[in-house]
Amino acid sequence: MALPALFDRLRLPVIGSPLFIISGPELVIAQCKAGIVGSFPALNARPQSQLDEWLHQITEELAAWDRDHPDTPAAPYAVNQIVHRSNPRLEEDVASCAKWKVPIVITSLGARPELNDAVHGWGGITLHDVIDDRFAHKAVEKGADGLILVATGAGGHAGRLSPFALVQEVREWFDGPVALSGSIATGGAVLAAQAMGADLAYIGSPFIATEEANAVQAYKQAIVDGRADDIVYSNLFTGVHGNYLRASIVNAGLDPENLPESDPSAMNFGGAKAWKDIWGCGQGIGAVHAIEPTAARIARLQAEYAAARARLAL
Ligand SMILES: Cc1cc2nc3c(=O)[nH]c(=O)nc-3n(C[C@H](O)[C@H](O)[C@H](O)COP(=O)(O)O)c2cc1C
Repeated sequence: MALPALFDRLRLPVIGSPLFIISGPELVIAQCKAGIVGSFPALNARPQSQLDEWLHQITEELAAWDRDHPDTPAAPYAVNQIVHRSNPRLEEDVASCAKWKVPIVITSLGARPELNDAVHGWGGITLHDVIDDRFAHKAVEKGADGLILVATGAGGHAGRLSPFALVQEVREWFDGPVALSGSIATGGAVLAAQAMGADLAYIGSPFIATEEANAVQAYKQAIVDGRADDIVYSNLFTGVHGNYLRASIVNAGLDPENLPESDPSAMNFGGAKAWKDIWGCGQGIGAVHAIEPTAARIARLQAEYAAARARLAL
């Protein structure tokens, strides 16, 4: 099945994934101008009224860019909604998205038919993130247009499955839009995701080490210095398994090799404290060698993607 027309504007088949605390208008606008989907969690706008301001700013700046750059128009942007009972803002945030007709809504931690219907009502599409084939079926049954497959090695909440296994299982029955996530950090890996059957690569951690990311300098530098071996998988911090930088766990006075299991009743997905001190990160950061402008990071991905295609004579 062809990708929805709004993806025609992409100059690289990539979604810059939503990053709690880290992604805001500056990063999203830079990503969209450089030709990839930019996204942010609605919960990053605090208080709730700030969401309206952010959507206004993104809409205006991208429209101005399109007027000045008709040959390279901005890619569409996405807002991430945490569809979990711990999110008391969901209804208000969806109303803000409706007002600005947000083109893409990424839903996490819960699939709801009424949310998909609402997004379709204003002409948007929904992508739901899942970690296995069972959740993928549920998401599509509840009306998601596309899927984000979160494989092993992804930053933040991550699955356990190999991307090869996950894409293959989902592609046996689903021919809609699929984005693949988990340690993708080079243009060659973007092409590999497409070769496996995904339409788009979903990239998070490399964008933490950019000038536009809302992260402290030490966090950005830890991404530059870190490698796959520095990533710890634990459910202690939010109740759901995820990947984090070892150094931040040590700094918090914990032993990364002996972390206790979390108490599931203590789940707190929106807990800003955990994410501020314990730094989410995927395994792909060995490819990140500098803190640089977002546009430079995307230009590098584009050059690597073209080189990988040429190498394979595609
Ligand atoms: C610090 C951090 C915060 C994240 N916050 C969110 C979030 O708020 N909502 C969400 O759907 N995914 C979130 N994610 C997951 C990413 O959107 C994406 O799945 C992941 O970054 C992809 O793997 P990669 O980091 O290896 O590229 C987060 C990831 C990181 C590293």
